[in-house]
Amino acid sequence: MSETKGHDVTIPEQSTSDTQDGPILRVDGLVKHFPIRKGLLQRQTGAVKAVDGLSFDVRKGETLGVVGESGCGKSTMGRLITRLLEPTGGKVEFEGKDITHLSTSGMRPMRRDVQMIFQDPYSSLNPRHTIGTIVGAPFKLQGVEPEGGVKAEVQALLARVGLSPEHYNRYPHEFSGGQRQRIGIARALALKPKLVVADEPVSALDVSIQAQVVNLLDDLQDELNLTYVIIAHDLSVIRHVSDRIAVMYLGKIVEIADRKSLYEAPMHPYTSALMSAVPVPDPRLRGKRGRRLLLGDVPSPIAPPSGCRFHTRCWKATASCATVEPPLVELRTGQQVACHHPENAEDRLPDDPALPEPGETITVSAGADKPPAAPAEEASAKDASAKPAAAKEAPVKDASAKPATAKEAPVENAPAKTAEAKTAEAKDAEAKDAGTKGAGGNASEGSEGGETSKG
Ligand SMILES: Nc1ncnc2c1ncn2[C@@H]1O[C@H](COP(=O)(O)OP(=O)(O)OP(=O)(O)O)[C@@H](O)[C@H]1O
Ligand code: SF4
Ligand SMILES: [Mg+2]
Repeated sequence: MSETKGHDVTIPEQSTSDTQDGPILRVDGLVKHFPIRKGLLQRQTGAVKAVDGLSFDVRKGETLGVVGESGCGKSTMGRLITRLLEPTGGKVEFEGKDITHLSTSGMRPMRRDVQMIFQDPYSSLNPRHTIGTIVGAPFKLQGVEPEGGVKAEVQALLARVGLSPEHYNRYPHEFSGGQRQRIGIARALALKPKLVVADEPVSALDVSIQAQVVNLLDDLQDELNLTYVIIAHDLSVIRHVSDRIAVMYLGKIVEIADRKSLYEAPMHPYTSALMSAVPVPDPRLRGKRGRRLLLGDVPSPIAPPSGCRFHTRCWKATASCATVEPPLVELRTGQQVACHHPENAEDRLPDDPALPEPGETITVSAGADKPPAAPAEEASAKDASAKPAAAKEAPVKDASAKPATAKEAPVENAPAKTAEAKTAEAKDAEAKDAGTKGAGGNASEGSEGGETSKG
């Protein structure tokens, strides 16, 4: 079934992805709006639409990576699916059971199966508790008495995550960031969960430690048959760990696909811009691939743009993009995309007129095989963004302004949070340097080709 909205655009029905084994987690139309209250009476004056209609499945044994700029709702999504937050709307099913509105006591049995690893290993461990107490807490909370006792089990877990059993009586402040994250992982795995949601599990760690922790997560997955949802804004980490990847923008999934398709033939312009920021490890290929630089701020989730939320920054935006929300549909087997004018696929609204004033969105620099442009050239490339959408899709510039090696690891917490900074830089016509700091900029400096790759 299809429906027609504004501009005589035919919108196909939203697609769903079915899996052979059946998903371990199914999310349908998940919404979380945080109310904004003002005044003495604390009246609600608006809402932060942090998560605004997510639908996806997670298959048993897979790793679903979730990427997106800062503030796009990744952590909120993680907390919703682990039921640390109450959804405003939608449905969460774990192993076929609806857990959307389970009470704390109703959730208790599920807590054994669904665990979360938190982003900040410094604040997620109680400084007054010993490691033994912290890692042993899940046993106590669930009333589980492991064979051989809690202490022996905790010490075995510590050894499993690369710590020493002697660390049992130590306090968190005696450990490094990487060791603390290992403690967090041990705690999450204590009850042998089925699904682990890891929210930026390595972004607070030193580059040298990141690969170790990623490898540890990988080994544990094989050993314990775990299913992961790994949230990160670092595309190189996501590429290493994920089987499938969901790309989020302003509370919505704009594309979801298997890793290979997403990296090799992204369809959503936003994904395409993110992917173009990922460095090419092969020096012979560097400079051959185009580079798209995302400019402009991420709009506020309090009043997201109409139609396609990305239209204020999209170089392909047309009139319908500003009014008609593109549904997430399967355009290629296993690849769902929410876009009227996808990349690497047939245009779905070929005759739609370009937006009269599409705003400054993405700089597409010229000369794929040329050396990096001088600032003056950059400025003129930027001016091109004021032209109609079609004209703006100019040839792309050399992406290798900053070559990346396997040793060049991600810059922590950089990408989305630097979006505003990037705008300012671009406006100063110094985008040459900014070419390595796009929305996927963090990723762009990632440890591509590192030792942690799955495939
Ligand atoms: N408890 C809350 N109350 C109000 N707004 C919130 C709350 N938690 C998150 N938000 C808002 O929801 C939006 C999404 O936040 P979230 O933390 O999920 O983003 P994120 O994608 O994880 O970002 P980051 O990459 O910086 O961690 C943000 O605008 C944030 O300010
Ligand atoms: S082409 Fe239109 S629908 Fe697609 S991402 Fe750009 S603004 Fe959104
Ligand atoms: Mg977050």
